[in-house]
Amino acid sequence: MEVIVAEHAGFCFGVTKAVETVYEQIEKDKKNIYTFGPIIHNEIVVGDLQKKGVRVIEDVSELAGITDGIVVIRSHGVTKEIHKKLMDTGLEIIDATCPFVKRIHRIVDEESKKGKSIIVVGSSTHPEVEGIVSYAQGPVYVVESPKEAADFDGDKETEYVIVSQTTFNMNKFKETIEIFNNNSYNINIVNTICNATDERQSEAEEIAAKADVMIVIGGAHSSNSRKLYEICAARCSRTYFIQTLDDLKLEIPEGANLVGITAGASTPKNIIEEVQKHVRTNF
Ligand code: F3S
Repeated sequence: MEVIVAEHAGFCFGVTKAVETVYEQIEKDKKNIYTFGPIIHNEIVVGDLQKKGVRVIEDVSELAGITDGIVVIRSHGVTKEIHKKLMDTGLEIIDATCPFVKRIHRIVDEESKKGKSIIVVGSSTHPEVEGIVSYAQGPVYVVESPKEAADFDGDKETEYVIVSQTTFNMNKFKETIEIFNNNSYNINIVNTICNATDERQSEAEEIAAKADVMIVIGGAHSSNSRKLYEICAARCSRTYFIQTLDDLKLEIPEGANLVGITAGASTPKNIIEEVQKHVRTNF
């Protein structure tokens, strides 16, 4: 049985940086470490941090009365308003927003200042998109799918700048753009899908297309992992979505000779290795 582990499986650059930032603070023996929201969508990592005393907050009000502490902002960033409120607490704020997300904030801020309307292609309730939207200085719209692009009823004279959520599916993004073009909107496209996502998705698709069984490892609440699962499942009907090795009830069909493994951006290396070892030794 051949086992292929995707090269682009697991933590991306931005997540690695954010997680390392929190561990660095623990090592420095800093007290009262908070993360604004879970640092990544992985219960195991978040659980480990909690054991080491790191607390997750969901709202700035939870910091009321605290005079000494550190708050780490996670890789997909926060809204402009939350950022300001955090700064106003007087606590030490470490901004681990991924530079690729910051770039989108900058584009949205600058382009909307020039009077252009902004369209964000992504999931409207995702904190990254909420953050991006908050940087617009004028009209801003969120389009979640090609269907919503088809239903978009905007002014054809307006100049729009289209950006995307970093983890959006590349094919769906292209489809969405095509619809805006076909409907004669005046659009400027800035493809802000992160390379890490693109590479991870195309590689996963390539492996799934030739694999008899595909395993996608990712957090239950991680949207990029779920997207990865969708992409693989479309190519390989025996695709498993697991969070850890414990979830894996693997059945290898007779005659199968290739198992592919990939993982979402929030999956730690040791979990990927565990799964890989298990498959290699047991099948
Ligand atoms: Fe950054 Fe891309 Fe990861 S935007 S957080 S490196 S998926």
